Amino acid sequence: MSQRLITTSFKDEDEEIELKLRPSSFDQYIGQEKVKSNMKVFIEAAKRRGEALDHVLLYGQPGLGKTTLSGIIAAEMRSNMKITSGPALERPGDMAAVLNDLSEGDVLFVDEIHRLNRVIEEILYPAMEDFAFDIVIGKGPGAKSIRLNLPRFTLVGATTRIGLLTAPLRDRFGVVQHLEPYSVADLVTIIKRSSVVLSTAVTDRGAEEIARRSRGTPRVANRLFKRVRDFAQVMHDGEVTEEIAKTSLDALDVDPLGLDAVDKKMMNAIIHKFGGGPVGLDTLSASIDEEGETLEEVSEPYLLQLGFIQRTPRGRVATPLGYRHMGAERQG
Ligand code: ADE
Repeated sequence: MSQRLITTSFKDEDEEIELKLRPSSFDQYIGQEKVKSNMKVFIEAAKRRGEALDHVLLYGQPGLGKTTLSGIIAAEMRSNMKITSGPALERPGDMAAVLNDLSEGDVLFVDEIHRLNRVIEEILYPAMEDFAFDIVIGKGPGAKSIRLNLPRFTLVGATTRIGLLTAPLRDRFGVVQHLEPYSVADLVTIIKRSSVVLSTAVTDRGAEEIARRSRGTPRVANRLFKRVRDFAQVMHDGEVTEEIAKTSLDALDVDPLGLDAVDKKMMNAIIHKFGGGPVGLDTLSASIDEEGETLEEVSEPYLLQLGFIQRTPRGRVATPLGYRHMGAERQG
């Protein structure tokens, strides 16, 4: 078998697990109670009227289940979901191809919608508002615009950065929902559900230990659970206990509050290289050789949530809580 085929088969297996772990209906979806109950009403109302659901904007940190929720919305509307993303739509032709592929009632999921360029965004306005697609034929004074009708579809936009959306785009979403970080209790339930899907026994305390280190994120919880399961199978009898969860997560460099190597590097740099701050994100990113975007979208929100750093107009500063967690003394 060629190397390529082998790689592909590994990938398929991993994707298969991911798909199995994803809930496919509201009944299976744990947490986000407010979003769930709101969405159920809007879906039921649209179904009763025999209409497509209004366009939906989902925002929140990475890994909170925006794609999963969009899939559930499509399933509950008994329609198909087509998936694309802001960065994937470069030219008008890309957008035309996606819109041309839609059928009545389809859900079009656009991930990272804050990264759409202006040209594409302007094609989306009439598509969202009037279900129309304007094509300009020719150039100069003789140019003509032809309007094509599109089927009624639902755009589900997902973003980690709602502040970067232009007002005209944001205003075209009839439904805007914010996904919050999950509680430890909800993550425990998610891990237990995954343990059934993956046929791996887990104790209550084992699930809690993983949940506490999952930074409020199901994607992290499931990833950590899969890795702890590896340790449990290879080094023990297969059951995920508190003890095994602790030792394997320590080995994976995930600390008791879920800080990973990058978070710790960021905290240590603020404290030891920049005297506790303030320090700008660009300087910080260059000094620890990590992508500014990762720091801004993944590390920073969690460190802010824990109260380990603060944002000031002059940059990020470490708080006394942050110092204490990192075992550092404040100078001066
Ligand atoms: N897996 C990932 N997110 C989940 C959720 N919210 N509910 C159940 N299983 C999940």
